[in-house]
Amino acid sequence: MIGMTKPSAAVPAVDLPDEAAYLETVAQARKAADAYYGSGESGLDDETYDRLLRGITAWEEEHPGQVASDSPSRQVGAGVTTGDVMHTVPMLSLGNVFSDEELAAWAASLERRLGGEAVAGWAVEPKLDGVALAARYREGRLVQLVTRGDGATGEDVSHAVGDITGLPATLNEPVTVEVRGEVLMTEAQFADANEQRTAHGATAFANRRNASSGSLRAKDRAYRVRQTFLAYAALTGPEHTDDAGLAALTHTQLVARLAGLGLGTTAGTPVATTACATLDQVVARVREIGVLRPELDFELDGAVIKADSPADQDRAGAGSRTPHWATAFKFPAAQKITVLRAVEWSVGRTGVIAPRAVLDPVDVAGTTITYATLHNPADIARRGLMLGDHVVVYRAGEVIPRVEGAVAGLRTGDEQPIAFPEVCPRCGAGIDRSQERWRCERGRVCGQVEAVRYAVARDALDVDGLGEKIVVQLVDKGLIEDFADLFTLTRDQLLTLDRMGEKSADNLMAAIEAAKTKPLNRVFCALGVLGTGRSMSLRIAAHFGSMQAVRDADAADLEQVDGIGGEKAPVIVAELADLAPLVDKLVAAGVNMIQPGFVPPASGGADPDAGTTAGTAGGELPLAGLTVVVTGSMTGPLAERSRTEMTELITSAGGRASSSVSARTHLVVAGENAGSKLDKARSLGIETITPEELAERLGGLLGGEN
Ligand code: IVH
Repeated sequence: MIGMTKPSAAVPAVDLPDEAAYLETVAQARKAADAYYGSGESGLDDETYDRLLRGITAWEEEHPGQVASDSPSRQVGAGVTTGDVMHTVPMLSLGNVFSDEELAAWAASLERRLGGEAVAGWAVEPKLDGVALAARYREGRLVQLVTRGDGATGEDVSHAVGDITGLPATLNEPVTVEVRGEVLMTEAQFADANEQRTAHGATAFANRRNASSGSLRAKDRAYRVRQTFLAYAALTGPEHTDDAGLAALTHTQLVARLAGLGLGTTAGTPVATTACATLDQVVARVREIGVLRPELDFELDGAVIKADSPADQDRAGAGSRTPHWATAFKFPAAQKITVLRAVEWSVGRTGVIAPRAVLDPVDVAGTTITYATLHNPADIARRGLMLGDHVVVYRAGEVIPRVEGAVAGLRTGDEQPIAFPEVCPRCGAGIDRSQERWRCERGRVCGQVEAVRYAVARDALDVDGLGEKIVVQLVDKGLIEDFADLFTLTRDQLLTLDRMGEKSADNLMAAIEAAKTKPLNRVFCALGVLGTGRSMSLRIAAHFGSMQAVRDADAADLEQVDGIGGEKAPVIVAELADLAPLVDKLVAAGVNMIQPGFVPPASGGADPDAGTTAGTAGGELPLAGLTVVVTGSMTGPLAERSRTEMTELITSAGGRASSSVSARTHLVVAGENAGSKLDKARSLGIETITPEELAERLGGLLGGEN
């Protein structure tokens, strides 16, 4: 988080050649930090800020005599908002680690502070991504709310009492205690806050943290915004009465006790504070929190690791900015700022017309994002988005990235309004605008013809005799809604179509019947899953072997397939969920759902990795691991095969088909009139075989194919 921590080692520092550059960078960082602690909008993402801060610290280390008095490296929280309430005990920040190694080094340094003794036990919990807040209770009654401010002095925001879930007006026991924790917005609270704000003529908040900080500090608003408080600390020690008996508790017990008093905590969520005995357990729990992150109602940007016992905490003590007994394991930023270049409108299977943002590519949590969802037209209008805007893009784990809002402070005046479609972008029919989500007036029917045509095309199910005119009639007469319905059509139904004779009807019935036995890659391709054409479908089918295995795969499994990255995988998962009824219908109609030649990975074999990639072809396949190039015309048993079919054949035999010969090619299948590729293969000393020899090697695989 901006200004709260030492700059991270994970991002490169900006290079500051001289004092002028140093002072300029100090001013820039200070401006961002002021804005961050003021309005909550910084205009810089965490990583950019981190780079500035690292540059500043590096320069200061070399020029200790020239450190600017207002350098953001000096104070907790960059020392900006000085409110009017003193903190009795400073509200500290946390140090950061970014890897298992850094965590281990930090734990070792903690043990050195404990005189070489092992830490008695650890507590691991989420690093909540909101705004730090101290809530003072006197004899069980909530009397004051104070922001962190600069760590020493905070702002009184007691006007927010009553607006925050998790901070009850009275506790279950009449104790006097200062509770500390994070105020944040759940997704629903954020949506509500923006709705209220825009209804009152203000621009929407760019992200949840801005919304939290802005709403907390705003006095005298005409409307009230709900937020959530989650406690992670309470003041004990000599200057506090500790009538709740908190001082002797471990951190894990403390959180449970706070929950018992009626305060909001992470208790009851999947990421509740957990005690861990060893550092290995800590690492495992940190991973788990990272995995659970996308499912949560609140945002987190890491895990916090704390020495659990109060004795260890006391002995370790604290520096001026951070405690020595706790640190944050930061996850890659889930949120970045980039530029909105264009808005594309696509029409979904049900006719919903959905806007999609085209962005300047930006790395978010380890994935390059170029597209993000924009929800619906009303939402674009509410957020006041414009082309050319700097927008906050958000992606937590496996969800499809979304645009949260624009950073109004970065507008140049050159931004352009976003054009909304006048007619359905797919079929040109009118648009039903009666709801927030616009739909083509033709609803599901829009796109049905196109989807069926795609499914029966040559690269997919390859059904001869199903031209556009016939498909249009079948859809218009209500005989089919999707291509799965083709398999239950009767001959009599076909005969009701214009210009359909007995012979053509028989041929078409036979062609449809034949389509039932096509290999999985073609059936999968027919589904028209976004982002998967002919060759991607083949790779997916060869990797998983069966439709069931593809359906069971999560985004991480899909990322094992060559060419599927972090942006595409969750889209495919979502698409398949959407297509489940269609796939069920195909299964019921008896359509093949298996990839011929697929060999499941050996179970319990010697290779410890064998089970992890669901279905990487095992060693028994004739072309396993080989890159194969086919050139010239096929002859013998392979005579009729197209290049697409050859690719399918090679893939189902465990090989990888390639179109060009290089040093990485293992095998060249040279048919009649093979030309330069064969010459090149020979000059490189690559094994060459005839189509007949290939057929022989493939043996049994040939029969089941196509
Ligand atoms: S403990 C003395 N625990 O992160 C201990 N802080 O970068 C200080 N934060 O100012 C804080 N989740 O606003 C602690 N589970 C957690 C936290 C947490 C989020 C925030 C807090 C703090 C900042 C430090």
